[in-house]
Amino acid sequence: MSTHIAAEPGQIAPIVLFPGDPLRAKWIAETFLEDAELYSETRGMLGFTGTWQGHRISVQGSGMGQPSMAIYANELFDEYDVQTVVRVGSCGALTEKVGMRDIIIANGACTDSGINRVRFHGQDYAPVADFSLLRAAVEASESLSLSSAVHVGLLFSSDQFYSTRPELTEPLVRHGALAVEMETSGLYTLAAYYGRRALGICTVSDHLITGEQTTAQEREQTFGEMIEIALRAATA
Ligand code: ADE
Repeated sequence: MSTHIAAEPGQIAPIVLFPGDPLRAKWIAETFLEDAELYSETRGMLGFTGTWQGHRISVQGSGMGQPSMAIYANELFDEYDVQTVVRVGSCGALTEKVGMRDIIIANGACTDSGINRVRFHGQDYAPVADFSLLRAAVEASESLSLSSAVHVGLLFSSDQFYSTRPELTEPLVRHGALAVEMETSGLYTLAAYYGRRALGICTVSDHLITGEQTTAQEREQTFGEMIEIALRAATA
């Protein structure tokens, strides 16, 4: 058992899907995995292990924001020897190039978080996706007939959902950021530190330019397509 995950050694698979919402973890396990078993519910952050097309897969909730995500990612990598983590989350579109319910596969993630500033002594660090996972996710999305458009590009991992200065994202968008979420930058940094593979895939749940929001039912359908991409990429 680790400090925040109540699994015994071996109960967590080498491949982990990593949604922010613990109830989304339960939905993924019940919808996509066979013989899924709950291994942890410490602090309500549910984790399950089952199989998908013969591959052992775990699904672990990360919570919202880089501090929460980093607790679980550190323990998965360090204490459970997890090799591959795919974040499956939602994001808010920052540009009209991206539409509602589109899927973004993050080749990199910039951030306003202080975490990396401290970690790299004030120097800039560019957190990037594992290339083999990125390539496999793109191939998976091309081979599936998806209802959602798929983009490969930059996410902005913000520390604040409710920003008091939303105009501060303008230079990030000018330099290619497609959407805002709150975890991928930290995940890429920790995967690099531990020498493991990570990828962030997000569906657009809200649009900061048009003000649109998805319904719960729409989120579920698009979320399903994203999980298919994630499972295929992680097991390729
Ligand atoms: N996740 C989904 N939508 C978001 C937004 N607008 N800001 C930050 N994280 C998000």
